[in-house]
Amino acid sequence: MRPAPSSASAALRSWTRHAFPNTSQTSAVATARLAPQTTSLTSQRRDQSTAAAATSGSSFDSPFTKYDTNKIPSFAKYKAKSPEVSNRVFQYFMVGSMGLLTAAGAKATVQDFLVNMSASADVLAQAKVEVDLASIPEGKNVIIKWRGKPVFIRHRTESEIKDAEGVNISILRDPQKDEDRVKKPEWLIMLGVCTHLGCVPIGESGDFGGWFCPCHGSHYDVSGRIRKGPAPLNLEIPEYDFPSDESLVIG
Ligand code: FES
Repeated sequence: MRPAPSSASAALRSWTRHAFPNTSQTSAVATARLAPQTTSLTSQRRDQSTAAAATSGSSFDSPFTKYDTNKIPSFAKYKAKSPEVSNRVFQYFMVGSMGLLTAAGAKATVQDFLVNMSASADVLAQAKVEVDLASIPEGKNVIIKWRGKPVFIRHRTESEIKDAEGVNISILRDPQKDEDRVKKPEWLIMLGVCTHLGCVPIGESGDFGGWFCPCHGSHYDVSGRIRKGPAPLNLEIPEYDFPSDESLVIG
């Protein structure tokens, strides 16, 4: 027992000196007081779950217990009513029809593409040109347009043919016999494009009685061979043919 305080200040001093209760001791006391209650609750719950397990056998209620998982389900209601052979015929028909449609579509697509890529009608029309030779008198030149280029057609005279054939080809810059440049001696057909820089030579002029290019002064003879000036080659001979005596087809 503590002595009774004599005054208020003595009571305050006495109270501040009074030690607070120990925390660990307090909690131990509280635990000791609560322990019987917790133990009784736990054992109560354990008794309840043991009783439930004893009555049902398991606490997990499976949703599949009402189905037999070893049984194969029946698909009878999805099967076709008609016989199997008629089904197969229908499948073959459908596959064949779709294949035909696909092939027709692919053919049309490829054909359209190729038609687009090919030459247009006006270009094809210019690919070949037919000329009536009866309208060209002997000793005259005719110039026609073929594939955008001029073509010289010369109806040569006997003396011009003799002159062209009599040339010694060893002196020529681009050696070529006259007979190698014509299919019929009286008809000389060649492109009217100078082999120097592409001007169009003038007919029946120049130092050799053939063609003269005024651009830089090239002279061609009556066989279209270069004889003088800067042009390196003879005038070019195009593809041509004589379907008859009176007609010429170029190209
Ligand atoms: S283009 Fe003909 S001589 Fe130059």
